[in-house]
Amino acid sequence: MCGIMGYVGPNQAAPVLLDGLRRLEYRGYDSAGIAVLGSTIEVRKAEGKVGRLIDLTEASPLDGSVGIGHTRWATHGAPSDLNAHPHSDPSGAFVVVHNGIIENFYDLRDRLIADGHEFVSETDTEILAHLVAEAYDGDLAGAVRRAVSQAEGAYALVVMTVHEPGKIVAVRRISPLVVGLGDGETFLASDIPAVLHRTRDFLIVEDGELVIVDSEGATIETIEGVTVERDRLHVDWDSEMAEKGGYDHFMLKEIHEQPAVVTETLAGRLEEDGSAWLDNVHFDDAFARNLRRIWITACGTAYNAGMVGSEVFRRLLRMPTSVEYAHEMRYADPLVAEGDLVIAISQSGETADTLAAARLAKERGARLLALTNVVGSTLAREADDILYTRAGPEISVASTKAYMAMLIGQYLLALRIGAARGLADPDLASRVIHGLHALPAALESVMHREAEVAEAAKRIAEADDVYFIGRGLDYAIAVEGSLKLKEISYVHSEAMPAGELKHGTLALITEGIPVVVVLTQEALYDKTVSAIQEVKARGGDIIAVAYDDDDRIARFADTVLRIPRSDDLLGPVSGVVPLQLLAYHVAKIRGNDIDQPRNLAKSVTVE
Ligand code: F6R
Repeated sequence: MCGIMGYVGPNQAAPVLLDGLRRLEYRGYDSAGIAVLGSTIEVRKAEGKVGRLIDLTEASPLDGSVGIGHTRWATHGAPSDLNAHPHSDPSGAFVVVHNGIIENFYDLRDRLIADGHEFVSETDTEILAHLVAEAYDGDLAGAVRRAVSQAEGAYALVVMTVHEPGKIVAVRRISPLVVGLGDGETFLASDIPAVLHRTRDFLIVEDGELVIVDSEGATIETIEGVTVERDRLHVDWDSEMAEKGGYDHFMLKEIHEQPAVVTETLAGRLEEDGSAWLDNVHFDDAFARNLRRIWITACGTAYNAGMVGSEVFRRLLRMPTSVEYAHEMRYADPLVAEGDLVIAISQSGETADTLAAARLAKERGARLLALTNVVGSTLAREADDILYTRAGPEISVASTKAYMAMLIGQYLLALRIGAARGLADPDLASRVIHGLHALPAALESVMHREAEVAEAAKRIAEADDVYFIGRGLDYAIAVEGSLKLKEISYVHSEAMPAGELKHGTLALITEGIPVVVVLTQEALYDKTVSAIQEVKARGGDIIAVAYDDDDRIARFADTVLRIPRSDDLLGPVSGVVPLQLLAYHVAKIRGNDIDQPRNLAKSVTVE
């Protein structure tokens, strides 16, 4: 995810900015840049690592004590020197850096082009520089206010102008922003670790606030202009804790980032009326109408996300959809043909087996859609259509937030295809649309129940074997819950459809064996309860994931992990979170290396 830096003070800005950007590298990025205000504003920026930017700045130094900087994780436009931030208005008098997404990018850009504006990059950020310059009448804060009133989305924006030296103005709309308070100098950053070695006193900018920064400190206002009093936050974290946002591990941080990831993945893509506008998905309505069959192919957690997706496509579109392990599909001589859509899901976009299956699908005439988190990855480059998941870089090797974004991406795709060929059940579709918009809040409420999950984890941490069961979509997330547990806790676990238990595995259920049961599918509820009874009869320890208002489950389960009620088709999205947390807490109790588990690579580029 992009990183932001800003500095106003008595020292040269460039070294402070470059040092801050280095400390934000852990967030992941593909290009970096800084702008420094001296007698004019000068910009240095480059694709690649901060090291390259440092070389550039050494070769051509910048003089000035006010500046802004950025590390970019590409969303609009490929990683390149031109698309790197900062971006300027045509006069070069205003520069901006920005983190997040402007949802109405195309509308704003069309309007500005019609008014004679010309753009040099493919980014949504450059538009903001033009909007601020256009709105400027001698007051930078006012101009920023007028500019952001036109820009929809979730973002943080930082602006500097030659007309008001010694000042930086920034706005936060969801994407994080903090002010570091030094002695006669002030810092801006997207994250505390960027400047923690320079100050331990911070002001946290909240959503919908504008901040005016100078060397004496910062004034925070609401976006409407009402002054806000904010207490200083004194931070005691060491720098390693700070990188993890105060969490013990990246995995936990990333689990907690999921509400924001859902917001980002949906941003600008789903209208209230259900139309899904997916940038980089180019197939037309005729293709969607004539679609013969959907194939999903992937490995590991991405495959598990595909298990949910294939059911979502089937229920929303009532059309043949299957999910295939890429390492199986590539050798199975699959009946893929022209008129089919093959969705290859891969967080990294570099998994060797997934690439091979995707290439095979293309060779056979199918249309290839990449659902990936990495802009410009091999899969993205080779696909006909791309849906970027916008989860931001995932640092923990075990995937959580990328899985979440893959789920959301598939709901969006189903709605996009359904808009062209008709939805099987429009009422269901509108419940899903409504539910998707409500998801960030729902996921947030699951996070608040982490203590209950940590308690249940104590029992699993002592077990040698754990079973995960569910039916339909509940089975799909049981599989992901089981994989997470194996990957990081090294406890043996197995997931199976609840109905399969009695066909053999029941032989292994004895006194005290933990069985995790997922129950978000109303239509299958009673059937799953039958399986629970079979487990209880043999002394199994039932840990259930169930809706808040499910008052039957307490009779059968030893522990219930609650999630907010949603439409059943969205049940897996909230339901998977307690399972991720369960895996995390079991691994923590067992003292494992959670972020770097044994024998698992972040990107599996070998067959
Ligand atoms: C599990 C995990 C792996 C990956 C799999 C595919 O937490 O991360 O199972 O999901 O190796 O990786 P991508 O999605 O990069 O293709």
